[in-house]
Amino acid sequence: MRSETAPAIRLEDYQQPAYRIDTVHLTIRLQPNETEVVCATSVASRDGTDAGAPLILDGDELTLVGIALNGKALDEGAYSVTPERLEIHTPPAEPFELVITTRINPDANTKLMGLYRSSGTYCTQCEAEGFRRITYFLDRPDVLAVYTTRIEASSKDCPILLANGNPVDAGRIENSDRHFSVWHDPHPKPAYLFALVAGDLARVADGYQTMSGKQVDLNIFVEHGNEAMCGWAMDSLKRSMKWDEETFGLEYDLEVFNIVAVSDFNMGAMENKGLNIFNDKYVLADPETATDQDYANIEAVIAHEYFHNWTGNRITCRDWFQLCLKEGLTVFRDQEFTSDMRSRPVKRITDVRLLKSHQFPEDAGPLAHPVRPRAYHEINNFYTATVYEKGAEVVRMLKTVLGAADFKKGLDLYFERHDGNATTIEAFLTCFEDATGTDLAQFALWYEQAGTPVVSVKTRHDPGNRTFTVDLAQEIPPVPGQKNSKPALIPLRFGLVAANGEDMETGAADGIEIANDTMLLEKARQKVVFSDVPSKPVLSLLRGFSAPVRLDQHQSEDELELLAASDRDPFNRWQAVQTLAMQELLRLTQLARSEKPLTPSQSVLDLFGTVLQDAELDPALKALALTLPSEADIAQEIGKDVDPDAIHQARQRLRAEFALTHRSALLKALTDHMPTGTYSPDAQTAGKRALSNRALHYFAVSDAEETAQRVWERFSNADNMTDRISCLTLLVHDGMPKRNEALKAYRLRHENSSLAMDKWFMVQATAPGSDTLKLVRSLKSDALFDETNPNRVRALLQSFATGNPTQFARVDGTGFEFIVESVLEIDKRNPQVASRLLTSFRSWRALESKRCALAESALLKISSCEELSRDSRDIIDRTLQ
Ligand code: PHE
Ligand code: ZN
Repeated sequence: MRSETAPAIRLEDYQQPAYRIDTVHLTIRLQPNETEVVCATSVASRDGTDAGAPLILDGDELTLVGIALNGKALDEGAYSVTPERLEIHTPPAEPFELVITTRINPDANTKLMGLYRSSGTYCTQCEAEGFRRITYFLDRPDVLAVYTTRIEASSKDCPILLANGNPVDAGRIENSDRHFSVWHDPHPKPAYLFALVAGDLARVADGYQTMSGKQVDLNIFVEHGNEAMCGWAMDSLKRSMKWDEETFGLEYDLEVFNIVAVSDFNMGAMENKGLNIFNDKYVLADPETATDQDYANIEAVIAHEYFHNWTGNRITCRDWFQLCLKEGLTVFRDQEFTSDMRSRPVKRITDVRLLKSHQFPEDAGPLAHPVRPRAYHEINNFYTATVYEKGAEVVRMLKTVLGAADFKKGLDLYFERHDGNATTIEAFLTCFEDATGTDLAQFALWYEQAGTPVVSVKTRHDPGNRTFTVDLAQEIPPVPGQKNSKPALIPLRFGLVAANGEDMETGAADGIEIANDTMLLEKARQKVVFSDVPSKPVLSLLRGFSAPVRLDQHQSEDELELLAASDRDPFNRWQAVQTLAMQELLRLTQLARSEKPLTPSQSVLDLFGTVLQDAELDPALKALALTLPSEADIAQEIGKDVDPDAIHQARQRLRAEFALTHRSALLKALTDHMPTGTYSPDAQTAGKRALSNRALHYFAVSDAEETAQRVWERFSNADNMTDRISCLTLLVHDGMPKRNEALKAYRLRHENSSLAMDKWFMVQATAPGSDTLKLVRSLKSDALFDETNPNRVRALLQSFATGNPTQFARVDGTGFEFIVESVLEIDKRNPQVASRLLTSFRSWRALESKRCALAESALLKISSCEELSRDSRDIIDRTLQ
């Protein structure tokens, strides 16, 4: 039987720490397997703490070497210690100096939390609870201290020594082959923002002058040989710094800003004060190895981490329940940045697709949780789409509800009032209430309630009284552990579209509060009556996706076609096309399920043709409109008794029929929009490339000899990764004759680029077709597969589990078994990567009964395993609940 699960940590149990730590002086003597950490802190009891209350410090796999208080070694009876905990039984009442020496083993650290080595470089990851793997500490975000860090290491192996803040000293260590450097960070910060890096790295240097005229040194550190791949990241950094000054008046606050790229990293990147550490896939780019999407991701992640300097670092979280305070707000900020750098509608559609494909299923399954959770077993499992993406949607709604000017007032007050604090969502919302006089009590429910509200809509026009009535209702479907959901405050941006495609002018609306173009739905049901509506309008609701809700609204094909053709809101134009495509895909899936012939409807084919040939439409938007909902999207829409094979058949059928119907227009689009000249990752050119490749994606489905030849040639002649990888995907996924030749050629070309090889693994892992599982198994033993590298694990295993619905959910259950085996292997060395892989089962109950039963027995196998990490235990328990 499995061991007892530890009790959950609860928001309601929050208590201030008993002690403060005001300053930290760290001396870290780096050795690959015996690093010594001396941590000297000044500690004081907090007001209200009983005299002599024990000081309890967190640890994790630590070895204590020594402990001294006010300069004297502590008697053994004065403290007790385990690898996880150090208690000083009765500390003095007056402030005191505590010096703790620990020994750690960076080379043995496979969890990639705390101090570890990646390709020889020492680096740290302390969020959320990694600092306790370096020294015993009050490892919680509401303990803010000023850090001074001295690093000592071999001069030869580690010419570069970095830590948070500004460099203050450096030199040789006498009579040794070692050197040191000292860094001081004047800004008090929680331990999760601590970082150090030491290694033999190349430096790409630049500079930035802030709006008040201060000069900041900017550096990006990478492995030797990668210097030429840092230009885009550096450019993105400078644009981020400028944008934050112009948009929010926020300036950088240290003399240096350092970025380090490492190849072994559990997450995307980390905002450590003055020393951001990145997964190298969000730093390194050149046209040879990075796609347009990679360039866009780098720009966004660089911005995200930089923006954390204010939203996260200067103002941090009181406890980990408040994670969305920094993450939701910072995602909102990076989304706005991208919108300003690129195309706002394209960015909005991209973000909503991500939200719907990642957050909606999370919110509809066993892992659902509020944007601000109330309980957790393992905080690492709460770096979720709900906290990040829905968290950003909530901030966006706040802006919509208050209006841009009042939103700005509230945010300005937040920066002014809470600079230097570790704070909460309540305090954040209070700033907006105080600055604008708005009561946000109902709005706050967005942070408290899990589940995606469903807004149902019924409309009718009465020509006699010239009224247009909209019946609105909202409801949150059942969520595990959440009873009696309350109505949320839902901002619904809308327009009433006339037959000519323009927005109608109408008389007043009764029954709801409307500000500008936004209705505020606040009750469970509301009847809205518009007066002076001369003719029957089409309701364009949820423009710009103004709230993270599902709409239950039955619009006719004609109505949707009108919106698709002429809604002035680009998001809803896209949405109308998607809705029509989805309806058709649901119908075809139904037919496939009952083994009837699949005949796509002419009207959808025509609509796609119209979109394809619309000369006005921005290519990037067109490419998005012509992208069919994914198989996972369709599964989600179906919601229960899901048969992935039927979905796959339906989608492939529609794709093929579209290709057949519009062959010449597709050919024209794919050639006309193919950019010429030297590669540029800018949004416009990338949009054209996206459209050209989207056209090719359809065109390629025909089995004509010349088609395969065309794809092969485009693959072989591609001068950039975007084209090369989209052709390789077609060759492999559509099983074209030269598929193996292409894979070989790609491998030969990119063998030395691990980022490019990740794509090679991913393309194969996501290929439909019943031989994929066998292939993926064999790739797991490929010389280039490395189980210790999280990017590689994600490329092969995670993308198989989440990006290959028919093969993961094979009807013989072997896809599930394979992932279960892999989770159990990986869990031993890296629980975070394993538990993330395990979340790929989150929608298992929606599968048809046979697959559902197979998924359950696979999950039970994990659950019955005795030696499971806390991370995986938490996910498995919730998934099976
Ligand atoms: N805080 C990081 C970010 O959002 C993400 C992260 C979390 C990285 C935990 C590492 C560990 O930018
Ligand atoms: Zn973040």
